[in-house]
Amino acid sequence: MVSLKNDRFLRALLRKPVDRTPIWMMRQAGRYLPEYRETRRLAGSFLDLCKNTELACEVTMQPLRRYSMDAAILFSDILTVPDAMGLGLYFEEGEGPRFRKSINNESDVRNLKSIKAEDDLSYVMNAVRAIRKELNGDIPLIGFSGSPWTLATYMVEGGSSKDFAKVKTMAYSQPELMHSLLGILADAVADYLGAQISAGAQAVQIFDTWGGSLSSQGYKDFSLAYMKRIIEQLSVTLEGSSVPVILFTKGGGQWLPFIAETGAHAIGIDWTTDIKNARSQVGDLVALQGNMDPAILFSSPKRIREEVANILEGFGKGTGHVFNLGHGITPGVDPDNVSAFVDAVQELSPKYHL
Ligand code: CP3
Repeated sequence: MVSLKNDRFLRALLRKPVDRTPIWMMRQAGRYLPEYRETRRLAGSFLDLCKNTELACEVTMQPLRRYSMDAAILFSDILTVPDAMGLGLYFEEGEGPRFRKSINNESDVRNLKSIKAEDDLSYVMNAVRAIRKELNGDIPLIGFSGSPWTLATYMVEGGSSKDFAKVKTMAYSQPELMHSLLGILADAVADYLGAQISAGAQAVQIFDTWGGSLSSQGYKDFSLAYMKRIIEQLSVTLEGSSVPVILFTKGGGQWLPFIAETGAHAIGIDWTTDIKNARSQVGDLVALQGNMDPAILFSSPKRIREEVANILEGFGKGTGHVFNLGHGITPGVDPDNVSAFVDAVQELSPKYHL
């Protein structure tokens, strides 16, 4: 095991005994924090923030100064990969991500720039190295990427979508074209995560935010197969230890037995899945990460504590659980309610590890 002052996050992912359930939060560095909003203002735009090593490192550290999290996550975005491939990412205030060019046909796929993460996404690797230095061995750093399917949804739709009409039309009417795009993305993501690991990421998470929009067969063919291909390609060791892979499909609760067979060390689950039931399905194959509804953070510290207690009881005794939200924290949450959340996990979980 990499030498770390606090390694309970990595231990839980590898289902080794821990003293309490580790916790981190998806989007823990983000707009609910006033200091994040201030740094983002200084940077000019979200993308400028991602590309500025010092400021990306600063915002990664901000939640750690407030809360005793058991892991840090690289500050970046999943859409940096299609941006590097030449699609031109930008963010329209209040509208989310957009691409200047989208993928409509075979020639668009052929014209995608083939990338080498170490060179074409060097700003991400610089951020990883700077954050590792700043963390100084206190807690592990998580690297991440989008899943091929989730990246494809943004690339084909040209931005966010409600019904995924364009990307699903391509998947169901021109499956060969979709598979060629997904294959290119899988290889790029494997290279990208590999580069993050070489730069110092101690665990990686694949965000499959839109896998849950597919049918069961569609999910297996267009999303799961390519995440499996990434995991197979990843050289999952660093300094002689395993680098755990977390696979998070939002809305993937009904496919857990299949996800557990990909070689991932842990499965992220959203709040619509019952964690007790999830554990009984995956057994000792993988760890679980999740799964409090982020909206609970809009309620009271008392209600938050009750929900934490329910989830801990649902998972039950023993290792193999990393506490998290079931999706990213929502802007507008009171930062004090996050303290109540983190405290509750730290205070209520030790009895499950006796
Ligand atoms: O978890 C973390 O703290 C690490 C940082 C992180 C961000 N994006 C920062 C961010 C991570 C892991 C992501 C992943 C990401 N990005 C996903 C997958 C996870 C998920 O939420 O399902 C997706 C789908 C994206 C694409 C993307 N980037 C969207 C949909 C948005 C939100 C647009 C909006 O205005 O709400 C972003 C922007 C983004 N990425 C922000 C942050 C902190 C907000 C940017 C800002 O306005 O400051």
